[in-house]
Amino acid sequence: MAVAFSPSSTVTACALRGGASLLGSCFLVLRSRRAGRLQSAVTTRRSRTWCAVIVGSTAVPEASAEEGRHGRRSSEQLALPPELVDELVEEALVWCSQHGLIVGDKNHPRSGKAPGVGLLHAPFSLLPMSFPKFYWDQALELAPLFNELVDRVSLDGEFLQQTLARTKEVDLFTKRLLDIHSEMMELKKEEEIRLGLTRSDYMVDGETGLLLQVELNTISTSSNGLACGVSELHRNLVRMHERELGLDQASVLGNTAITQHAGALARAWAEYNNPRNGCPVALVYFRAGYSPIDYPSEAEWRARTLIERSSAIKCPSISYHLVGTKKIQQELAKEYVLDRFFDNKGDIKKVRQCFAGLWNLENDSIVMSAIESPELFVLKPQREGGGNNIYGDNLHETLVRLRKDGGNELAAYILMQRIFPPASPCYLVREGKCAKENAVSEFGVFGAYLRNKDKVIINDQCGYLMRTKAAALNEGGVVSGYAFLNSIFLT
Ligand SMILES: Nc1ncnc2c1ncn2[C@@H]1O[C@H](COP(=O)(O)OP(=O)(O)OP(=O)(O)O)[C@@H](O)[C@H]1O
Ligand SMILES: [Mg+2]
Repeated sequence: MAVAFSPSSTVTACALRGGASLLGSCFLVLRSRRAGRLQSAVTTRRSRTWCAVIVGSTAVPEASAEEGRHGRRSSEQLALPPELVDELVEEALVWCSQHGLIVGDKNHPRSGKAPGVGLLHAPFSLLPMSFPKFYWDQALELAPLFNELVDRVSLDGEFLQQTLARTKEVDLFTKRLLDIHSEMMELKKEEEIRLGLTRSDYMVDGETGLLLQVELNTISTSSNGLACGVSELHRNLVRMHERELGLDQASVLGNTAITQHAGALARAWAEYNNPRNGCPVALVYFRAGYSPIDYPSEAEWRARTLIERSSAIKCPSISYHLVGTKKIQQELAKEYVLDRFFDNKGDIKKVRQCFAGLWNLENDSIVMSAIESPELFVLKPQREGGGNNIYGDNLHETLVRLRKDGGNELAAYILMQRIFPPASPCYLVREGKCAKENAVSEFGVFGAYLRNKDKVIINDQCGYLMRTKAAALNEGGVVSGYAFLNSIFLT
């Protein structure tokens, strides 16, 4: 089966040969060429605050502790002697170059166009950060529940169509996805083998101490490779400076995201169980296709439809893709909606506990609150890939305009409670330079779900992504230039 895709994407058919269980057939991998897409122990469990602090014999307590947004002492920072910072930065930069912890350099004209040209170390936090085991356990427990939820919602075509019906009227991209979805419903197309590679992102709310979900990604869940790389980087730095840092390298949590995700892809291929080489395609993995610019002409939409109609396993299917939209996230957070998908009340409670405030814009009292206090909300369109959300003054202006226009355009967005995680000073390295920033973090848990008819073959968490960014920033992507890769040790 031949598949065309966007001119901004490379279509790579990788025949897997030689591996004992991977003989024959092939994966089809869709990757975007845009570089941007290819993408302390001073924690108290009681207050559940956490911070990027290394306790060490040469580390010196800082004079002042950071105050949280609500006046609460959120964390304490121990400063490193400047000469140790310099040494660590140099070692880390060399390590990144030697071990491929690199991204495309947006300032280089040939970056992303020629292999091996225009590469730069990925932005990283110099040191790992503490993370309460309490949150870790909670996020890991949630991972299989969210995987299962994605699968169940994906099977409820009516729910997807109805929930997105108003959005469809004003958002052409969502409409095109929904059109493919309705075509599959009309064809009564069933996906017997379903594969989801997910990432559920969370922030700790400084006010309540609750772990709140930012969003659930079901397409092109990125940074699994970078996340594994940064924990290896930190382990290596800690190993070389165990005494000065007062940390044991084994305490830096390892990350299995890349091997587990690759393993799930391979297992899905095995379930497809057609060892002929070359044809048909067993599995299509989308590393692009989540953004309107990935579909510059009708050819890409035809390709997406062709893939959806095919017998290949899609990662994700159109249904899994739609489940990851912000609008579905908002609908699932409404009272009793989860009851449609889960029988177990305990599971419903656990999942609901991590939901932040989410609203549609038909709720005028919330729209008015957001206009009055835009700093407490995030306005989100149905987009992926970072840089699309609207904050602060822009949020105020956008809502005032949309309300005045009085049209349906409000339905393109959802409103979300803005989460304010506790901030603490962090050493952050970008483009070879280290700066100490007052920073907040976002914690993502990768997941994998594989099902063949009635049999769940994989439903697991697959490691983590810790991203740290300056507290003053709104967005949080690593490759998009906002956040820094980080790793954790549990306290
Ligand atoms: N409710 C919120 N409170 C605080 N920050 C938020 C909130 N929602 C989003 N953000 C910030 O904006 C970033 C992007 O938001 P979101 O994950 O919703 O968009 P996305 O385009 O789907 O991103 P991604 O490319 O990571 O999938 C988040 O990583 C986070 O840093
Ligand atoms: Mg997303």
